Amino acid sequence: MTVFMCLYCKGDLKKINGYLRCLDCDFKFPIIKDIPDFLQKDTGPERKKMIKAIDRLSTIYETPLWYPIIYHIYGGFFIPSVKETVNSITDMLEIDGGIALDVACGTGLYTRNIAKHAKEVYGIDFSMGMLRKAQEYAKRESLDNIVLARAEVENLPFKNDCFDGISCCGALHLFSDVAEALGEMNRVLKRDGKLAVMTFVRRRFLGIKRIYEHLERDHHFHVFSVDDLQSDLENTGYSDFKYNIYGSMILFEAKKI
Ligand SMILES: C[S@@+](CC[C@H](N)C(=O)[O-])C[C@H]1O[C@@H](n2cnc3c(N)ncnc32)[C@H](O)[C@@H]1O
Repeated sequence: MTVFMCLYCKGDLKKINGYLRCLDCDFKFPIIKDIPDFLQKDTGPERKKMIKAIDRLSTIYETPLWYPIIYHIYGGFFIPSVKETVNSITDMLEIDGGIALDVACGTGLYTRNIAKHAKEVYGIDFSMGMLRKAQEYAKRESLDNIVLARAEVENLPFKNDCFDGISCCGALHLFSDVAEALGEMNRVLKRDGKLAVMTFVRRRFLGIKRIYEHLERDHHFHVFSVDDLQSDLENTGYSDFKYNIYGSMILFEAKKI
């Protein structure tokens, strides 16, 4: 539990009677069936509504009824298989027995693969439904080095400079403030630590103005350009931006300066 910190005073946390309790301000974060809950006290109604919808989706998310369909709808039909993409993200992290964080881990599709190469992987997501599925799937594969927590990317409950690598897949385009999210990930990443991301750029079918304008306006989904990503990364403390684009999907890595 040493990487966790209090969201309110940055104090150390100790596991006491079903809570992670702050040793400085005494705030208690509940641990619900092995998953600590760091959702902010002031999470607004719009976000709560979104979380509820994602909770409902969690039951089918990683089944043939959802993930492979959405992956190909956004990415295009001639992109690498899901398995190849999961492996590429793990390779980019170069985690080799280190400690990783999977941001917006969902049901843990990427987390589980990273766990096979890391000492420990932390997975955070704001949907408890997604985290419960991640917990179930990790158990099914007997992966006991995955630590899950409910938290928001904007307020990560981790100390500065504690992860050797961070992945964030299928989610950067959903964050309301991308620079804030990249900055927060940078804060918890060690110097020279790798960030590995899967998201979408304005290419192929997502390059059709009507489609990306609709996604941006009605679904608050960012459809990035490579230049946007590069400048957001440079402005939030990363260097060595390298990427590959497949259809509308981009896999990129960057290093904390
Ligand atoms: C499309 S899913 C991707 C899940 C997983 N990384 C994968 O690729 O299978 C997006 C995830 O981002 C999470 N998410 C979105 N905004 C978030 C935020 N601000 N903080 C934490 N999680 C967030 C959602 O709950 C959801 O599980």
